[in-house]
Amino acid sequence: MGWSRAPLALFLPGVVFWLLFANVGSLKGQLPADVDTLSDAALFDAACANCHGSDGRGLDRALLGFEEPLPDFTDCNFAARERSADWVAVAHGGGPARGFSRMMPAFGEALSKSQLQRVIAYVHSLCSEPAWPRGELNLPRPLLTEKAFPEDEWVVESDAAIEGDGSVSGAFVYERRFGRRAQLEVVIPYGWVEVPVAAAPNATKWVSGFGDVVLGAKYAVHHSFSAGRIFSLGGEVALPTGDESKGIGAAGTKLEGFMSFGQILPVGAFVQAQAGAEFPLYTGGENEGFGRIALGRTFTSGGFGRTWTPMVELQGKREIAGSVPIALDVVPQMQVSLSTRQHVLFNVGLLVPATETSGRSVRLMAYLLLDWFDGGFFEGW
Ligand code: HEC
Repeated sequence: MGWSRAPLALFLPGVVFWLLFANVGSLKGQLPADVDTLSDAALFDAACANCHGSDGRGLDRALLGFEEPLPDFTDCNFAARERSADWVAVAHGGGPARGFSRMMPAFGEALSKSQLQRVIAYVHSLCSEPAWPRGELNLPRPLLTEKAFPEDEWVVESDAAIEGDGSVSGAFVYERRFGRRAQLEVVIPYGWVEVPVAAAPNATKWVSGFGDVVLGAKYAVHHSFSAGRIFSLGGEVALPTGDESKGIGAAGTKLEGFMSFGQILPVGAFVQAQAGAEFPLYTGGENEGFGRIALGRTFTSGGFGRTWTPMVELQGKREIAGSVPIALDVVPQMQVSLSTRQHVLFNVGLLVPATETSGRSVRLMAYLLLDWFDGGFFEGW
């Protein structure tokens, strides 16, 4: 904090007032008594504008007496993706409630939850371009179903067979958003497989290698915050970078097209779905159709803290031309936020084959995810 600037700040009206707030932590007496008669904008002006500025862009640092940069609430690329509930938590508990600076004071004792929701709704109205999908539509990532929301994140995925011959695979997924609705993605998989040793009948050994690198793109063609709905189209190319002879990767290039859908339901519940088809470009590969649906509900500890999201997914796959019946998997799982900022998340679940079970084993699946737009991995804990 810039204490060396404190003498200067003494002469700037309003600043000492706010420094006191930040340090004493009680704002009650400083706000007008009749907060409920104020319009949302007037409430923002009374409680927040001394730092965030009446226009929401943040006052100049020279006027503030502290070094923390203030966010620009009119920047849709930043503001639209932030969930109201997270911002209410920041305004209620202060910056540290989400791993931010304590120069952002706590208003939990001065303003009720509904007053905070009003002021945050006003803050959200400062981004005036509705083409940016709202962060609420960024639903928790299931283990298999591709989300519809365009993301800035990286994910380390892993899964392991827990019966039969061993196989373990991992993948690094990097997703980057472009503009309002588009996202590009790269997936770099790595696999370990237990294979029989030709010379010794009952012996096995482990082989490993990179799998098929996937390049993908996704575009949110429709979203509506009021209807709680988002719909995207996407496509992927899987390149034959893996070693097929080891059982890691396919024999050639594979194309995939899909649509994904997310819908917010009441009481923190949601449903997400994805349907698509895979088209191998090499001989011997079969065109396959697939569908996935995930149902879940998020619980937030103490109303503002860590989130727990139990989900169950159902996945079905079938060759488009063949007569092989549909292979169904059921995937119960639990996602939990690890960081105070809620930008590092962990999910673990079990993929349980339900039909066509021969040769398909139960798999333990997990991922670790970083929403890197919200801060680095080591920030915000
Ligand atoms: C004493 C100055 C001050 C006041 C008053 C203040 N804020 Fe802040 N606020 C900050 C600072 C500084 C940050 C940046 C914290 C950081 O990035 O570590 C911040 C950050 C935030 C954020 C987090 C944005 C993000 O990055 O996700 C929200 C939301 C917010 N303020 C809302 C409000 C609201 C609503 C009010 C009024 C009820 C308010 N603030 C009043 C100083 C203030």
